[in-house]
Amino acid sequence: MFEKIILKNMDHPQSHTLEAYVESGGYKALATMLQKYSPDELIEQVKQANLRGRGGAGFPTGLKWSFVPKNAENPPYLCCNADEGEPGTFKDRAIMEKDPHMMVEGMIIAAYAIGARTAYIYIRGEYELCIERVEKALEEAQAKHFLGKNILGSDFSLDVYIHRGAGAYICGEETALLESIEGRRAQPKLKPPFPAIKGLYDSPTVINNVETFACLPHIIERGANWFRDIGPEGSPGPKLFCLSGQVNKPGLYEAPMGITMREFIEDFGGGACSGKIKAVIPGGVSAPMFPESELDTKLDFESLAAAGSMLGSAGVIVLDDSACVVEVITRITEFFNHESCGKCTPCREGLDWCAKILRRLEEGEGTHEDLEHLDTLCPTIFGNSFCALGVGASWAVQSALKHFRPEFVQHIEQGKCPFH
Ligand SMILES: Cc1cc2nc3c(=O)[nH]c(=O)nc-3n(C[C@H](O)[C@H](O)[C@H](O)COP(=O)(O)O)c2cc1C
Ligand code: SF4
Repeated sequence: MFEKIILKNMDHPQSHTLEAYVESGGYKALATMLQKYSPDELIEQVKQANLRGRGGAGFPTGLKWSFVPKNAENPPYLCCNADEGEPGTFKDRAIMEKDPHMMVEGMIIAAYAIGARTAYIYIRGEYELCIERVEKALEEAQAKHFLGKNILGSDFSLDVYIHRGAGAYICGEETALLESIEGRRAQPKLKPPFPAIKGLYDSPTVINNVETFACLPHIIERGANWFRDIGPEGSPGPKLFCLSGQVNKPGLYEAPMGITMREFIEDFGGGACSGKIKAVIPGGVSAPMFPESELDTKLDFESLAAAGSMLGSAGVIVLDDSACVVEVITRITEFFNHESCGKCTPCREGLDWCAKILRRLEEGEGTHEDLEHLDTLCPTIFGNSFCALGVGASWAVQSALKHFRPEFVQHIEQGKCPFH
């Protein structure tokens, strides 16, 4: 039986309190770290553990931290990306609502590693309860000297501030997030320079996801080798998966990466509602979908990338055989079109065209020429968008066209949606 790590406290009715967190061994890692590790040794531990970012791209966390220049003129900042805007994703919300101290302890550890004295938590504006619980957790941590000046009597100090987002998906893109904290319109910025070199207020800045931070106390307490031994070599450590869609037991689950999509949906989710899976989106709606025939692909960074999709935010969405793929992809594209920040033409104009064509097809008013337009439009958006929003959006449409083209043709030839 797999041991729960990130979700271990969640059944405790008071799991969000400092008392419950400390009772379960919380903040021991912080004390251990201050006694045992220099910042460089800590970065080495996290590299050894091969922790990969849980926010979407799977970038190695220790490596990212090591890019922060030592003794830079401006002190570095740390940011927690708690914007969680990807449809189908609700793992960070659970951590913040039910076990906020695990994330806060992870942030203190990360701040120590990179030499930050100030950190921000950028929380999605709609997440009212998360904001309330994280605010309270920060107060509790401060009162016990886990935060603030001279943490646990050491010469390390850290202040953490909450910044509320205002409901735009693009605010989760790291450079747009930093623009938003600085009070500007959230639009992505050119990289390089990467935030680790020049980020918030032109200072070196590390941005990590909520779940990435939540892994850190466990790496300190149980060691890099222990972490590395969980799951496949290239994708180690505990992982949260959000299961939704037409599945019998939707919910948040913790599992080692490397489990196949089929096993995950059957064993954790009790199978598809109709008993027959048609398609699965493995990593939130920007991840290309798979048909049933590819469900033996493993849920980990490498396997999904090799199969032409991505783990992304680990939002696994199940479509059973009653679903209309054209309807689903139309809805997804309308979402991305709405959320496009408008900075670059391929995404701003291209997604609008895509959404209009798809809506026409879904309503049975499309033509074969419309399909051909989609075939040329999507690669244009994919290859020319300024940030990953346009890339993900067009990639998702391409995957629907690749695996479910006959369904699009049926809409054209029958002049209506065959499913409704
Ligand atoms: C359009 C867009 C939206 C994103 N939204 C989020 C988000 O809500 N939360 C998140 O952690 N990362 C999000 N990311 C990824 C971040 O840019 C960044 O890679 C991540 O926060 C880094 O943390 P990690 O290394 O711990 O994964 C988004 C990326 C893009 C392109
Ligand atoms: S790809 Fe879309 S969201 Fe990203 S910068 Fe261009 S317009 Fe904005």
